[in-house]
This record gives sequence, C-alpha cells and structure tokens, in this order.
Amino acid sequence: MNQADFPKILGFCCRWCSYAGADLAGSMRLQYPPAIRIMMVPCTGRVDILHLLKAFELGFDAVFVSGCHIGDCHYLAGNIRTVKRVAKLKKDLAAMGIEPERLEMFHVASGEGPKFATVCREMFARAQKLGPNPVKREARAAWLAKQPDAEIAA
Ligand code: FES
Repeated sequence: MNQADFPKILGFCCRWCSYAGADLAGSMRLQYPPAIRIMMVPCTGRVDILHLLKAFELGFDAVFVSGCHIGDCHYLAGNIRTVKRVAKLKKDLAAMGIEPERLEMFHVASGEGPKFATVCREMFARAQKLGPNPVKREARAAWLAKQPDAEIAA
C-alpha cells in the first residue's frame, strides 16, 4: 500500500448544512487533513446503509455522515432516519470485524466551519489510531507489524 493511501476518509455531507460548513471552513482557511473526501448529498436521509458499506468495501478507513442539526433537516426527518441507520450499522460492523468507531454521524450547520474542521480532524485521528480498514488485508498486516503491541492487536 502506498503510504499516501492511508488514511482515506469519506464524508457524506448534506448540501444544505454540512457541505456549506465545509465550504466555510475552506473560506476561513481552517486546516484539516487532506485525506478527507467529501461527497455532497441532497440530505443525509439519502445515505443508505449500502452506500456506507460500499465505502468500506472500497477501502475507506473511516466514513462519516454529516448533516443538519436535528429539527433543521430540509426534508423534515432525513437526518433522524440516518442517525438510526448509522447506529444500526455500527452494531453490524462490529459483527463483521470492522471497528464501529470507523463510522460516525455528525450534525454541522452551514455556519459551523470550525466544527466541520474539528469533525474532519476527529475522524482522521480515529483512522490513524485504528489503522487501515480490515478489508485492506495487506495494508493492515503491514501496519500491524509496525505497531509495538502488534501481537495483542493481531
Ligand atoms: Fe440536511 Fe436533511 S437536509 S440532513
């Protein structure tokens, strides 16, 4: 694995809130890791469990969904449904051998650029701590071999 490929993080961002928050973070020249890839969605309610699983299958080390605050969704309850989906998938990921911490849901408004940058740094730190996604077997084995407690972690 190319070192530049780790960590790879995907964020599904609602166009009404978090995508604008990401824009604001950029306008404010706030620093966050370049490993974050942002996918704009019309509402977090559009993000299905299959989209999240596909992201992990494609090798993203961490995935987050970021949308409007509860009560602010432009489609009324899209974000509430996705909060439930993410919570359910976190349980299922654990059963699949993928650490649930690799997935998270956040609420970031359009005026919360600094919060968006914090979310990105948080997911980057989690991915770095957890190592490569277990789907990337070779990369994960190489990473584990470099860890001081690799025998425990393996
Ligand atoms: Fe933003 Fe639904 S419109 S989460």
